[in-house]
Amino acid sequence: MRKTDANIVVLTGAGISKESGIDTFRDKGGIWTQVSIEDVATPEAFQRDPERVLAFYDERRKQLASKDVKPNAAHRALVTLEKEWPGSVMVVTQNIDDLHDRAGQKNLLHMHGELLKARCLKCKRVHSWKGDIHVDAICPSCRQPSRLRPHIVWFGEVPLYMDQIQKALTDCGIFISVGTSGAVYPAAGFVQYARTHAGAHTVELNLEASAGSSLFDEHHHGSATEIVPTYVETLLGDGPRP
Ligand code: APR
Repeated sequence: MRKTDANIVVLTGAGISKESGIDTFRDKGGIWTQVSIEDVATPEAFQRDPERVLAFYDERRKQLASKDVKPNAAHRALVTLEKEWPGSVMVVTQNIDDLHDRAGQKNLLHMHGELLKARCLKCKRVHSWKGDIHVDAICPSCRQPSRLRPHIVWFGEVPLYMDQIQKALTDCGIFISVGTSGAVYPAAGFVQYARTHAGAHTVELNLEASAGSSLFDEHHHGSATEIVPTYVETLLGDGPRP
């Protein structure tokens, strides 16, 4: 893949943040091997037991605030790509952490929501939220108590920004997937969409082959902090051509 002005869409998943100290979901010891999705990540779970669901996300917010958790070389490489690539670069992340933001990524969509935000079920406003969300917390906008939920897309809910993402995929010449198992739709279907609708060159950067691996034209398997900077250098023309 030579340096061109093709637009790039990068889809990221939990694997890009693993080396920053954030757990993945489906790897050995991952979050969904310890806690059941039905207990903490569905609207029904929140209706049934809001305290349990809020405590789960409070714990993850605390983990994100740890001083050891910071953007890694893979997050930073994607910022370099955005700054130096002649075409547009959009990062669509499934991650609810803020590591792409902290690294300085500008054209970034959090399709599964953000851990550091809370949304009011009454007035629908979204607020920055750094601490715990208590079950009786008051919405800073409408002052209603007990109506705040994490600004997270749960299983059974529609991901955010789908129109923008679809448009970017339709216009992209290169689609890169980083650190995702390809187990969760609609994100898992983006590679096929980019191939069919844009004829995009598709690249998998992951620790191992993902579920949709055969749909990628190019594969680089290894840890994100190694393979993402190397691939970005190659794209920008500083490294060996693939
Ligand atoms: N470098 C690169 N890839 C890695 C690394 C690493 N250091 N560590 C793990 N991986 C890979 C794993 O091999 C796996 O394929 O990252 C992938 C992580 O997969 P999942 O745990 O399934 O995470 P993700 O694909 O982001 O999950 C999608 O599922 O539960 C939901 O909403 C949640 O956004 C999440 C979605």
